[in-house]
Amino acid sequence: MTTFTPRTLEHGADRVTAYDHGAHVAEWTRDGVPVVWVSKESRYEFGTAIRGGVPLVWPWFGNGPEGDLEPAHGLLRTASWSLAKEWESGWVWTIDQEATKSQPGIETFPYRYEAQLEVEVRDGLNIALTVRNTDDVPFSHEAALHTYLHVGDIRNTSVSGLDGVHYFDKVLGTNQTQQGPLLVSQETDRIYQSAADVSVVDPDLGRTINVSATEGSHTVVWNPWETKARDMKDMGDDEWTQMVCIETARLGDKKFTLSPGQSATMATTISLQR
Ligand code: BG6
Repeated sequence: MTTFTPRTLEHGADRVTAYDHGAHVAEWTRDGVPVVWVSKESRYEFGTAIRGGVPLVWPWFGNGPEGDLEPAHGLLRTASWSLAKEWESGWVWTIDQEATKSQPGIETFPYRYEAQLEVEVRDGLNIALTVRNTDDVPFSHEAALHTYLHVGDIRNTSVSGLDGVHYFDKVLGTNQTQQGPLLVSQETDRIYQSAADVSVVDPDLGRTINVSATEGSHTVVWNPWETKARDMKDMGDDEWTQMVCIETARLGDKKFTLSPGQSATMATTISLQR
């Protein structure tokens, strides 16, 4: 059931679909082939995040640094944003504290802020989240651009750019170091301490997707794998085979801290390697 009106942008071979709900880029195709993945079972309803595309995670990641914050991934992905600007290759949405005063979880972030999301198709898809502190006191926030990428089959895909990087394995609950390329062969939920460029090498679709971060500190890699995906109501039983999340993030002790009047931008660029 679709309850939101999609916005669509066609620019050369690129087609992008987005919603004011969450300022959420839900789909990006090039020549009709998805680059960004969205679940066929995604719900498009108030109070729920779209499963796929690029959900915005802010002002905390997951359940926050201490694991006690709700809802997971913060306030913005289920909030109603306002479209501020639209042109032939992009959009800008804005939101502020007043517009999110009824969002679940707002009581744990009682600060005045303004946020802006800019999306533009250039060589790839560029997504930039800017937050300004409009309060009289400083505040800190985590953020992630939780990009779901479409792959031919995750079991044949490799992720490069993380060799030698320390990571926290959320599935095992342990700290590890990546050796060589990452081959996703089981439930994977990892927070890498690097925001260097990452490439998703996909032999089945004969292409490589690059993810390049600006002002990130971490990269999160997530695939729920078979069992967890089956338990998710908004993901088809086999859909986990065709997605991987590569998330540009700013987390933990690297979170942003803004003085009154200050702003910070974190961005991700997703592109197809030529
Ligand atoms: C990832 C987290 O960023 O998002 C995972 O690391 C989580 O732990 C995943 O399961 C999906 O989260 P959600 O809230 O959209 O189901």
